[in-house]
Amino acid sequence: MSNDNKWELFEAECKNCTNCGLADTRTNVVIYRGSKTAPLMIVGEAPGNNEDLQGLPFVGRSGQLLQFLLGSYGLTDEDYHICNICKCRPPENRRPTAEEVKACKTLLGKQFGLVKPKVVLLCGSTAYEAFFNAKPVMKDVRGKFIERNGYLIMTTFHPAYALRNPKMKAPMLEDLGLVCEKLVSLGLIKPIPKINE
Ligand code: URA
Repeated sequence: MSNDNKWELFEAECKNCTNCGLADTRTNVVIYRGSKTAPLMIVGEAPGNNEDLQGLPFVGRSGQLLQFLLGSYGLTDEDYHICNICKCRPPENRRPTAEEVKACKTLLGKQFGLVKPKVVLLCGSTAYEAFFNAKPVMKDVRGKFIERNGYLIMTTFHPAYALRNPKMKAPMLEDLGLVCEKLVSLGLIKPIPKINE
């Protein structure tokens, strides 16, 4: 089966999913934006109101910050695949419950299998917990690569947290810089142009 056909099936499966109660209140299932074959997968928590309405992840205020940070290193849509731990919006933007995270894991696993990223950037504690089954102390876990199942995984703050705590924007930029360096060193993206180039 071609990759396009696999994606068609996968997206249909996501859109028809009723594995948890969030199916009852969603407007759209939010699957991804960016490239289907990107070397970098960026994983947030769950869609908010804007994402639910547009059917795309990180298109609200958090998305603007994330996009600014990505753009600072010259990364484009070709370089990343942006998605969330949960594909449906939790009402009132609450955190997804452990049951909702679990219900969405099979689809996320399939998504990883299709995209086959080399590097993964987890944004925030919900994404970290879903991957490592442990509550993180964010200041301790951020900015370090962990190798798991063939993926190089970096954790950073959630952009919404950095919007509430603007001092966290600099460490986020730093973490993303390390991610870019790694992608460059693996030959997966072009070197980042220096300011005067
Ligand atoms: N916050 C997230 O974690 N994901 C989104 O898509 C938007 C906001």
